[in-house]
Amino acid sequence: MLKINFRIFSKLIVLIIFVFIFGCNTQDKSKKYVVGFSQTGISDDWRKSMNQAMEIQAEFHPEIELKILDSEDEIDNQIKDIEQLIAEKVDILIVSPIKSKPITPIVEKAYKSGIPVLIVDRKTEGDNYTAYLGGDNYEVGTNAANYLAALSTKNKKIIEIKGLKGSSPALERSLGFNDVINSVSNMEVIRSIEGNWESYSIKDSLRDAFDKIKNIDYIFVHNDRMALGAWEIVKERNLQKHIKIIGVDGLNGPNGGIQFVKEEKLLATILYPTGGDEAIRLALKILNGERIAKNNILSTTVIDSRNADIMSKQFDKIYQQQQDIDYQHIKINKQEERYTTQKNALLLLVVLLIISVLLGAYSIYSSSKLKKKKRELELQNQKITIQRNQIKKIAEEVKVSNEAKVNFFTGLSHEFKTPITLILSSTESLSENKLIRDNKLLNEVGLIFNNAKRLLRLINQLLDFRKIEDRKFILKASKTNLFQFSNLIFNDFEREAQKRNINFTISTNNEGLSVYLDRNLMDKVYFNLLSNAFKFTPNNGVITMDIVDELDSNFVKIYFKDSGIGIPKKEMNNVFQAFFQGSNNNKASSGIGLHLSKEFIEMHKGTIEANSKHGSEFIITLYKDNVHLNSDEIVYEPDIVDSTIINSNFEYEDDAFGEQLVQNDDEHYSVLIIEDNLDLVKYLKGKLSSEYSVHVSDGTDGIEKALEIIPDIILCDISLPDKSGFEICEILKKDLRTSHIPTIILTALNSKESYIKGLESGADLFLTKPFSFSILSQSIKTLIYNREKLRYYFVNNVHKIESSNTFGSLEQEFISSVNKIIDENIDNSKFSVENLASNLNISRVQLYRKMKAIIGENVSDYIQNIRLEKAKNLLLESQLTISAIAYATGFSSPNYFSTSFKSKFKKTPKAFRED
Ligand code: FRU
Repeated sequence: MLKINFRIFSKLIVLIIFVFIFGCNTQDKSKKYVVGFSQTGISDDWRKSMNQAMEIQAEFHPEIELKILDSEDEIDNQIKDIEQLIAEKVDILIVSPIKSKPITPIVEKAYKSGIPVLIVDRKTEGDNYTAYLGGDNYEVGTNAANYLAALSTKNKKIIEIKGLKGSSPALERSLGFNDVINSVSNMEVIRSIEGNWESYSIKDSLRDAFDKIKNIDYIFVHNDRMALGAWEIVKERNLQKHIKIIGVDGLNGPNGGIQFVKEEKLLATILYPTGGDEAIRLALKILNGERIAKNNILSTTVIDSRNADIMSKQFDKIYQQQQDIDYQHIKINKQEERYTTQKNALLLLVVLLIISVLLGAYSIYSSSKLKKKKRELELQNQKITIQRNQIKKIAEEVKVSNEAKVNFFTGLSHEFKTPITLILSSTESLSENKLIRDNKLLNEVGLIFNNAKRLLRLINQLLDFRKIEDRKFILKASKTNLFQFSNLIFNDFEREAQKRNINFTISTNNEGLSVYLDRNLMDKVYFNLLSNAFKFTPNNGVITMDIVDELDSNFVKIYFKDSGIGIPKKEMNNVFQAFFQGSNNNKASSGIGLHLSKEFIEMHKGTIEANSKHGSEFIITLYKDNVHLNSDEIVYEPDIVDSTIINSNFEYEDDAFGEQLVQNDDEHYSVLIIEDNLDLVKYLKGKLSSEYSVHVSDGTDGIEKALEIIPDIILCDISLPDKSGFEICEILKKDLRTSHIPTIILTALNSKESYIKGLESGADLFLTKPFSFSILSQSIKTLIYNREKLRYYFVNNVHKIESSNTFGSLEQEFISSVNKIIDENIDNSKFSVENLASNLNISRVQLYRKMKAIIGENVSDYIQNIRLEKAKNLLLESQLTISAIAYATGFSSPNYFSTSFKSKFKKTPKAFRED
C-alpha cells in the first residue's frame, strides 16, 4: 500500500517538474522566420548603414532571425551565398545584386524553389522575384539634371561619372540625367567616365578628361564616394572655383554626402535612401501573407547648401531617436529577460511549494502508517519472542527427555548384551555336551543359540545406530582380499540357501583383488544385505553376489541381487533412510540395517545404491587403493584366512520346511502352522507333533495348504512375505470349505489396532509374541473342544437347521444348504455324495472333511440318516405302503430299505409301523 502510494506520488512530482520545465519562457520560442540577406559588400558606409537599419528593424521583431552574408562585391561569392541560403531553406531571401545579369539566374532559382525573394537597391533582369524595393534611380538622374538646369541659363559643360556598368542604378541614373540634359539646349555632357562606385576607379579617367577638355562646369557623379574622388582631382588641378560636383547618396555623418555639401566639396547630393528598415518591414508583410506592391519605390530629394544643415540635423535627430529606441529596446529586452527570470523563479517557487506541501502531507501520512505498522510489528515481535522462548524451553525439555530415553535404551541395550553373550557361550558349550547330543536336545539348544544370536545382532544394530548418530565411529581399514572376505560370509548363508532350495552363488572377475576394508563394519553391511535378500526371497529363488573389478577404473563394484519381492519404485529413494519400512514388506524389521550399511559404506568413501527389477539389487562401489583414506584410518590386520572376525556359526539340524508329508490319520487332530520364522516353526512343530499331525506353510502357500488339508486348527503369523496373516485368515473364513476352521493369530504386533484387525478378519484367537507354549497349547485344545461342542449341537439339531436366518453362521448356512439339497433329492436313489458336493460347488474330499469337522459324520451316512428319518416319519404319519415309502425316500429296493432301517432303529419298518 505504502509502496503504491509512493509510486503515484513520485509520478505526480515528475509531472509537476515536466510542466514547469516546458512552461518556462525561452527566448528561442518566438524565433519563427529566418530572413536571409545577400549583401553586395560591406566596405562602404552606405551598405553599412543599410545593414544597420535592417538589424535595428529586425530587433523590433523577435520572431525574425536575420542572417546577412557579405559577397565582398564579387559576383561568384554572391551566387554561392544565395545557393547557401536556398539550401538552408530560409523563409525569405533578400538580395541586393552586384550586377543584374549574372545574379538573375540564381535569384530565379530561389524564387522558383518557393522561397519569396525581395530585391533591394539594384535590380535583376525579368520579373522572377516577389517584390522590389529601392530608390528611384531614374528620378535621381533627373533630379540632378534639373538642379543643374535651374542654376543659370548660360551654357554648361558636364562630365558624367557613372557607377558600375551592368548595375541597374548606374544605368537608370544615367538615363534619367541624360534625358533631361538632352531636353535642354544649354547643357551638354561632354564626357562619360565609367566607375565602379569607388573613388579610385575614376581618378585617372578624370585627370585625363581635365587634360583634354577645358572649361568644364559641372561633374555629375553617380555616388558620393566617387564624387569625393572627383573633388580631390578638381582640387589637385586647383579648379574648385570653376567646377562644381553633384553626388548621390546623401548619407549623414563625417564621410557622408551631406557633410561634403556642408564643406562645399560638393554642390549638392541626391538623397538615395538605403531602405534597410523598409526592407525588413516588407519582408515581414510577405511572410505574414499580406498583399504588397511588386515595386516599392523610395522617394529621393536634392540636398544642397540650403537644406544640408536641416537635413543633417534631421538625420541626426532620427539617428538619435533611433538610438533611443534602440536603447529602449535593449532596456525592454532586459526587463523582459528579468521578467522571464522572475516569472520562472516564481513558477519554480510555486512548484517547490506544491512539492513540499505534498511531501509534507505524504510524510505525515506515511509516518502515521509506519507508526501503526511499527506497533503491529512490535506486538508480533513480542508474540514471536514469547513463542520462541516457549519452543526453546520445550525443545530443551524434549532434548533432555530424549537424551534420557536414548541413554536409557542405549544403557539397556548394553545391559542386554552381557546376558545374551552369556546365553550364547553357555549354549555353545551345551551343544558340545554329550548328554545333550545323546538326548537329541541339540535342536532345542540350536534354537536358543540362533535366536540369542539374532537378538545380539539387533542390539548391536541399535548401538551402532546410536554410535553413527553421535559420529563416534572411527574407520579401521585394513588391506583385505575382497573375494575371500565375501566368500566367508557367503559360506554362512549357504546352509540356509540349501535348506530353502535357493540358488545362491558368488562370483568375481578378480580373485586376487585386495581393497581397504573395515572388516568389522563391512561384515555388518554384508550380513544385512544378505539377511534382507534371504528374508524376502521365496523358497526356490535366486540370490547372487557378484564382485566386478572395473579394470579400467579405480573402482570395484559388489552386486547383491535377489529374486524377492523387490522395492516399490517410488520408495527407492527412501530405502537408506533410518526406520524405513517398504510398503510391500509385512515382515518385522528394525528399519535401520540399510541406513547403517549406507553410513558404513560412506565411511569407506564408497557408495551404495538400490535397484529393483525382478527382485532387489544393491550395488556397493568401493575404491581399489587407499589414497582416499586418512593415514589414521588405515590399520594392519592379518590375512583374512587367519582372521577370527568371521566365526563359523553354530548351526543345528533343521528341516522344518522340508516336503515331509504328514499322514492324515483320524486319531489326531491336524494343525496347519503358517509362519516364515524357521526357528519358531521348528519349535512349534517339535512341541505339537506329539499330539497333532502338524502341517507347515511359510506363508507363500498358506491358503492352498489350508484348502488341501482342511486342518482342524490353523496357527497363523501376521508378518508374512506374500499376504499378511489378516488377509489369509479373512480369505479362509469367507470360504465355505474352510470357514469352520478355528484360527489362532500369532504376532509380535502388540497393538489394539492389530488386535481389532485380527478379530475383524474372523480369527478366533489372538496371541502376542512372546507367548508361553502352555497357553498356546491350552488355546488349541479349547478351540477344538468348542468346535466339538458345536458339532454336538449340529448333530443333535441337524433336522431343525433349515433356514440360515435361524442361526446365521456360515456353518449353519452350510448345513441348511446340505439339508435342502438332500431333501430335494430324497426320492432319488442315485443321488450320491458326488452329486451333493458338485451342487455345493466343492470337491468330494472337501465336503467330506467339512462335514466331518462340523458334525463328525461322513457324508454318505448323513444322507442315509436323513432318508431313514424321513421314512420313519412317513411310516408314522402316512398311509403309504412300505415299498412306496422306500422309493419315496430314495432306497433302490424295499429290501435294502428294510435292512438299513432295522440296523438304525433295531426294528423292521413293518414292526415299527405296527408298534
Ligand atoms: C553603395 C553604392 C552607393 C550607390 C549604390 C548603388 O555600395 O555604391 O553609393 O548609391 O551603391 O547601388
